[in-house]
Amino acid sequence: MTDTTSAGTTNAGTTDAGTGHTDATRATAVGTAAAAVFEELYGHAPEGVWAAPGRVNLIGEHTDYNDGFVLPIAIPQAVRAHARRRTDGVLRLASTRVPGEVVELDVAALEPGGVPGWAAYPAAVVWALRSAGHEVGGADVLLDSDVPGGAGLSSSAALECAVATAYDGLYGLGLGAAELALLAQRAENEFVGVPCGIMDQMASMVCRSGAALHLDARDLSVRHVPLDLAGAGLTLLVLDTRVQHDLADGAYAALRAGCERAAALLGLPALRDLSVDGLPGALGRLPADLVPLVRHVVTENDRVERAVAELERRGPAALGPILTEGHASLRDDFRTSCPETDLAAATAVAAGALGARMTGGGFGGSVIALVETERAAAVAEAVTGAFAAAGYAEPQVYRAVPSPGARRES
Ligand code: GLA
Repeated sequence: MTDTTSAGTTNAGTTDAGTGHTDATRATAVGTAAAAVFEELYGHAPEGVWAAPGRVNLIGEHTDYNDGFVLPIAIPQAVRAHARRRTDGVLRLASTRVPGEVVELDVAALEPGGVPGWAAYPAAVVWALRSAGHEVGGADVLLDSDVPGGAGLSSSAALECAVATAYDGLYGLGLGAAELALLAQRAENEFVGVPCGIMDQMASMVCRSGAALHLDARDLSVRHVPLDLAGAGLTLLVLDTRVQHDLADGAYAALRAGCERAAALLGLPALRDLSVDGLPGALGRLPADLVPLVRHVVTENDRVERAVAELERRGPAALGPILTEGHASLRDDFRTSCPETDLAAATAVAAGALGARMTGGGFGGSVIALVETERAAAVAEAVTGAFAAAGYAEPQVYRAVPSPGARRES
C-alpha cells in the first residue's frame, strides 16, 4: 500500500484535534525544529520548504486503476521537504523520523530496487524525473512529516509529492501539478514496485482548501466540489484502526489484476466503461470469482457520481448513506475491509454517524465517519469503547478538514 515508509510515520498524538494546535502554529513549530536539524546535518540552510498533504478519500475506492472516479480531500497533515540544490550529483536524504541517519546516493546511478527502506520513496522521485528527461541533479533534503504512517492516509504519496514539488522548485522545472503527480506515481510503481493508482498523488498535488476533488482517473480532469463541513454543522472523523495487515501489498496487486482480467474478458478498455445498467448482463459473462469485484467497481463509480450530485443539490449531510453503502460494498464484494474497520464503521453508525466507511486501500488503515459536530465526541468514544471491548489497540481519532494540496511554504 502507500503508507509504509518510516519517514512517513509520526507521533500521531501531536496531530490529534485534542492538542488544541491550529494548523498554522503546528506548522511553524514543526518547521522551526526541522530547519535547525537541516543546518546541523548539512551545515547550511535550506533554499526552501515544500509541503504536500496526506488525504482521505470520501468515496471511490479501487476505482482509480479502473480508469474511474474518486472524491478525496487533502488533510492538514503534510510532509515537508526542506531542500537545497547540490552541484555534485549527490542526493543526501534525511528524515526527522529517523534521527541521525543520512542516506547518500549518486543520482546518476539510481535504479529501481536499488535503494532500501524509506529513502526509496524520495530517491524514486528523482529517478522518475531523470527518466522522463528532466535535467535534475543532487540535493540535500530533510523530510519532516506529521502524516500518520500506516493509517491509510497516503503518507507515501505525500512524501513523493513533497520531493517532486521541491525538485520542481529547486531546478525551476515549471511542471504542472498533474505532471508531478504522474511522475510521483511512476516513481512508486516502477522504482519502489507498488502498483498503486493515481488518486493519492493527484489528491496530494491538486486538492484545494474547502473542497473535495472530483477526479476522472482516465483523463485526469478535475473538479473542485465545495465541501463546507463546518458550515453544515458536520465533522468528518478519521478513526485510525492502527491495523495494517501484511497481506496488503500482494492483495492489492491481485485485486488490480482481477479487475483488469474482467475488463479484458468483457472486451472493455477498463471497468470504467461498464455502467450500472449494463452490470446484470456483464456479470453473467464472468467467472464467479470476478463477479463481486466488477460489481464493486461499477457501483462504486456510480456512488462517486451520486455523491457529487447530492453534495451539490442537498449539501454534505446527504453523503452519509452513500458512505455506508460504499463500506458494505468493500466488505461484502471487494473484501478489502477487515474486522477492525468493520467494527469501527458499524459502531460509528450505531452511535449516530450519518455514514461511515473505510478509506484507502484497505486491510486496516482508517475509517471515516460523517457526524453532526455535537455528536462527534460521543461517536469517537463509542468506537474507542468497542475497540477496548474487542481487545483491539486504541484507535487514533482525527478530524479531517478539506485542506490545500502541495505548495511552497518558504
Ligand atoms: C491505495 C492506492 C490508490 C487507490 C486506493 C484504493 O491508496 O494508492 O491508488 O487505488 O488504494 O482506492
